[in-house]
Amino acid sequence: MVSMVVVLIVCLGIFLPISRSEAFNALSPAQQKKAVVELLTEVPLIDGHNDLAWNLRKFVHNKLEKVNLSTNIKYLEPWSVSKWSHTDLLRLREGRVGAQLWTAYAPCGSQHKDAVQITLEQIDLIKRMVEQYSSYLQLAQTAQEITDAHKSGRIASLLTVESGHSIGTSLAVLRMFQRLGVRVLTLTHNCDTPWADCSQADKPGAKPTHNGLTTFGQTVVKEMNRLGIIVDLSHSSIQTARDTLAVSEAPVIFSHSSAHALCNSTRNVPDDVLRIVAERRGLVMVNFFSYFLTCSNHSTLNDVISHINHIRRIAGIDSVGIGASYDGISAVPKGLEDVSTYPALFTALLASDSWSIDDLKKLAGLNFLRVLKTVEEVSNEYQSSPGEVHIPGEKIKDSLDCRTSI
Ligand SMILES: *[C@@H]1O[C@H](CO)[C@@H](O)[C@H](O)[C@H]1NC(C)=O
Ligand SMILES: *[C@@H]1O[C@H](CO)[C@@H](O)[C@H](O)[C@H]1NC(C)=O
Ligand SMILES: *[C@@H]1O[C@H](CO)[C@@H](O)[C@H](O)[C@H]1NC(C)=O
Repeated sequence: MVSMVVVLIVCLGIFLPISRSEAFNALSPAQQKKAVVELLTEVPLIDGHNDLAWNLRKFVHNKLEKVNLSTNIKYLEPWSVSKWSHTDLLRLREGRVGAQLWTAYAPCGSQHKDAVQITLEQIDLIKRMVEQYSSYLQLAQTAQEITDAHKSGRIASLLTVESGHSIGTSLAVLRMFQRLGVRVLTLTHNCDTPWADCSQADKPGAKPTHNGLTTFGQTVVKEMNRLGIIVDLSHSSIQTARDTLAVSEAPVIFSHSSAHALCNSTRNVPDDVLRIVAERRGLVMVNFFSYFLTCSNHSTLNDVISHINHIRRIAGIDSVGIGASYDGISAVPKGLEDVSTYPALFTALLASDSWSIDDLKKLAGLNFLRVLKTVEEVSNEYQSSPGEVHIPGEKIKDSLDCRTSI
């Protein structure tokens, strides 16, 4: 029966010019699923942002023995009653995720206090999780390692730090994060650092603290270029994004942001910035938070597709990706409720005649792999040696009580 259908489709393809999407739509649900699995086996689906590590801190105080991540924790308290929980390893596998950027997050309230410590505890937690679940996960620090982990059937796991305040205004801390395997740093969260404005600066009536990226901020970006750490502009103000795009020698990403033209949240990327990201061969990975998709508490899979299509239309097929932000959002689209649902998105895109297989491979992971490879090349070619620049303690507002003054 299956082979008859295939023969029929092949024949139709010979006698009538039927399109790829028409052929896909003629398949049974099981065959469609097989096509999605094939696609996501050929290239890793790389998601730009996941906050599971923060929920592990919140719910089990970093005690991994208190939760079995290879079961579906959707049915286990406290995960089952939290709007913020969408991830476990079983469902990531079901969702055919090939690589995950795991976020080591420290809240803004820890800035100038214990942000560096909390970030280190998050990095430790992610590393322990990867080691404990080594049949599911494999640490990856390069594009090649992502490809290798995916080929071996494991989810490549990248360490990312959110955000800039985690380095405590210290290039030395940034360098140590790189040695621990961190390959992405989000410049700001929802607070300004002493060297960059966050997206709150773009709220109506807000007054920016720095007007973008300061001189020290430029040094941080250049040090990231030298170290081979990807600059992540999600949460940055528009001016910080523009300044960073002007100074960064390597392409940058927005790891979990959507399109401002479709919903005017300050967390979304406006068209003019999308164009610069594209010129610099960077990437915007679409966030699934309803409040960023529709500016309301409800959204659907089709809203995610609208954002993907908009970013593609403005920035081009080489600059669009996926950064759902699962476990860091509290309102998810209907049809994309948790990490097991990515295949539904690819099924819908395969059914549409505006997406070729090559386009879908770029969206899924090839764009991110290209960015990471370029970041590695820029780092390898960097001539200067590490320098030391610091912001004098007295210049950092609110921080004197928490710093040694030497
Ligand atoms: C976790 O759950 C899986 C699947 O049910 C099971 O095979 C495994 O033994 C469990 N691990 C522990 C440490 O209980
Ligand atoms: C978004 O647009 C609405 C309606 O035009 C406006 O009231 C609101 O201030 C805008 N929000 C931002 C963050 O620009
Ligand atoms: C969305 O918000 C409306 C009004 O604020 C509320 O009535 C509704 O229950 C909310 N829907 C969801 C899915 O949370």
